[in-house]
Amino acid sequence: MTRRLRSRAWFDNPDNPDMTALYLERYLNYGLTLEELRSGKPIIGIAQTGSDLSPCNRHHIELAKRVREGIRETGGVALEFPVHPIQETGKRPTAGLDRNLAYLGLVELLYGYPLDGVVLTIGCDKTTPACLMAAATVDIPAIALSVGPMLNGWHRGERVGSGTIIWKAREMMAAGELDYDGFIDLVATSAPSVGYCNTMGTATTMNSLAEALGMSLPGSAAIPAPYRERPQVAYQTGKRIVEMVHEDLRPSRILTREAFENAIVVNSAIGGSTNAPIHLTALARHAGVELPIQDFEAVGHRVPLLVNLQPAGKYLGEDYHQAGGVPAVVAQLIKHGLIHEDALTVNGRTMGENCRDAEIVLPDVIRTFEDALVEDAGFLVMSGNLFDSALMKTSVISPDFRARYLSNPADPDAFEGPVAVFDGSEDYHHRIDDPAQDITAETILVMRGAGPVGHPGSAEVVNMRPPAHLIRQGITALPCVGDGRQSGTSGSPSILNASPEAATGGNLALLRNGDRVRIDLKTRRVDVLLDDAELARRREALEAAGGYRYPVSQTPWQEIQRYMVTELETGAVLEPAVRYHRIIDT
Ligand code: FES
Ligand code: MG
Repeated sequence: MTRRLRSRAWFDNPDNPDMTALYLERYLNYGLTLEELRSGKPIIGIAQTGSDLSPCNRHHIELAKRVREGIRETGGVALEFPVHPIQETGKRPTAGLDRNLAYLGLVELLYGYPLDGVVLTIGCDKTTPACLMAAATVDIPAIALSVGPMLNGWHRGERVGSGTIIWKAREMMAAGELDYDGFIDLVATSAPSVGYCNTMGTATTMNSLAEALGMSLPGSAAIPAPYRERPQVAYQTGKRIVEMVHEDLRPSRILTREAFENAIVVNSAIGGSTNAPIHLTALARHAGVELPIQDFEAVGHRVPLLVNLQPAGKYLGEDYHQAGGVPAVVAQLIKHGLIHEDALTVNGRTMGENCRDAEIVLPDVIRTFEDALVEDAGFLVMSGNLFDSALMKTSVISPDFRARYLSNPADPDAFEGPVAVFDGSEDYHHRIDDPAQDITAETILVMRGAGPVGHPGSAEVVNMRPPAHLIRQGITALPCVGDGRQSGTSGSPSILNASPEAATGGNLALLRNGDRVRIDLKTRRVDVLLDDAELARRREALEAAGGYRYPVSQTPWQEIQRYMVTELETGAVLEPAVRYHRIIDT
């Protein structure tokens, strides 16, 4: 209780009465009293990510009221402030561009204002990593509060998942089963309430991983946004952050190598998004933890899929919560020795203490190991002569996909085919249904120019639907490879996040339509069947022509980020920012 908090430097500094008076006066002008600000009470920030521009997180505007009450009741003073909004579906050219911008902004706020601790309001995809990355860089006591998923979507008695339904609806429209209005209607049924995507997309993934990392209260991630437990846990979160400030419990004690390994294991078990490795890598780098991309396979591949949520399975967010949420999943993983039980969490207890005894309530939604949905459900880390690394999410390989590509008795883990190459999503949309492209059931679709430099923020475009003529024949998926990302709500087993990207010297830039590519899941190789001499000739010709072309920046931030962003493999972080760790020391 006696530790001098950093907010005292602003509000109670007898050595500098001028500045103290200046700092104080404006925080008084809306009704705070001198007594509150000078009493030594912890000043707690509420980093508000909700706004009319970010509907997924908008419910945080309501929840913040309960956070404040918890802070107040425990002896703190709450100061709420906006975080640069990130709306996954609303931001052009892509929300991915804004993660690092929100991160940078939040670092400045946490460092530069009189805050002793912070509640991070997380939810929509990139809001979670942006907030956690900033808290890790500053190393200020921090606790994350998820906004929670939407209620389940329903259409004619069937669960309809937000994000995921769009892939199905697109196929139905391409096949002529839906018109434009029917398409919009079907997609809208998937989003029946406040909250983030109710599928196991990037939002549910990252909120689950925030809990698995130990950064939010146990059992809190999966509570649906409209449930009464949601404002209840908001209140408890507010209470807890004040205690954390007194305990000086900071992210550096929670975000350890063990915590990241726990997150990787949980990500496999929940069937988490292919965006998770990008965000976890970024967070690890800002926290100063070594986490090479190969660890996602080494630590996570052998973990079975336990959570039966769309897109890999059939249920949605409400079911996940009712079934027991993250603690029930972690308890199963603990039983099989896959969790570092000693990892510390924000409630001051360990992951083992929090989760060991959690039970599965709905056994079809969260499975035991004996009843797992898929064995070895984690990512494969692929490499070859087209890139150094790329990920493949094996938990979403469908029986149909397996039958078509992975059933040759002589070579059951490999297939090859000619490629159709697209430079960005506009090029893809223009050409995919053009009969002149000659795309057949054998074709491998390749997307390039979609990495953090080629398409600022990296586009979620690697999962490409086949041309309409193939869909009408019942072929709803072709293998896809690319240097961009894909939405966590997509059930496509693409090979994606390829690094280096075409725009920064990756060999995807050298591919031409009709080249043959071989994909071997056993050796984890993806290779174009060309010899080194031919690749060298093509490289020389490309460089002579000025290198791989990509569109110019549309905004100053796109341009600035392009100068300093890393590959997806290394988290697509701002490289100069990674030099700064734990920037407050009191
Ligand atoms: Fe925001 Fe899915 S679009 S969570
Ligand atoms: Mg997305």
